[in-house]
Amino acid sequence: HAVAELRGKHVLITAGPTREPLDPVRYISNHSSGKMGFAIAEAAVNAGAEVTLVAGPVSLQTPRGCERIDVTTADDMLDACEQFARKADIFISTAAVADYKAVSVAENKIKKSDNELTLTFTKNPDILATISCKDNRPFCVGFAAESQDVEQYARQKLINKKLDMIAANDITADGLGFNSDNNALHVLWSGGDKKLPATSKSELAHQLISLITTRLNEIEKN
Ligand code: PMT
Repeated sequence: HAVAELRGKHVLITAGPTREPLDPVRYISNHSSGKMGFAIAEAAVNAGAEVTLVAGPVSLQTPRGCERIDVTTADDMLDACEQFARKADIFISTAAVADYKAVSVAENKIKKSDNELTLTFTKNPDILATISCKDNRPFCVGFAAESQDVEQYARQKLINKKLDMIAANDITADGLGFNSDNNALHVLWSGGDKKLPATSKSELAHQLISLITTRLNEIEKN
């Protein structure tokens, strides 16, 4: 495939999980390793872009040539994204953002007492939707991790979050998706789609960056 060309473009990428504290020693999170987002950051650097990588708590090395901002919670991730989205041409949201956070974080360690424990959660901000609703927003690419009706849910997210492109990620396939080295994506946009079959996250990242570049060029011509 043709070499992607993103020289002069600034790409903002989120990767990894967010971590929402419950008390001083506990949190809720998910199995995202950050591998997909870090691979995309590397592919974007290779395509000549200036890259800002906003990373949740992951244990991965920073890809050469990109600026990395480490965050913990969804609120922190939103703050960082709002700061960098202003100068970004492309926003790629691979992070598995926790949909909910504790209504209040206990000041002291929650003690073991009754058989049942009830915690109350409140919705986190939707980072991608916040960025995509701004004036002069970047080209916005979402991910959709789904375990059923993958294409249908992804199409809904493409429309509801006002995205330019979405990468549907079927997380039921063995050895793909969360915390593995390989993945497969079905990329959708208004007027087209492309299936990227199972391969390494690194190869997939290059293919996705190519698709984004092609689509961005089409839009810029019109
Ligand atoms: O990190 P890895 O181990 O490599 O795994 C990669 C991955 C499976 C996490 C990745 O490929 C993936 O699918 N990421 C999206 C995960 C997800 O939880 O998506 P979602 O369907 O909940 O959210 C849809 C989109 O909105 C995503 O682009 C997400 O980043 C964004 N979002 C969601 C909620 C929220 N509060 N803010 C957001 O920005």
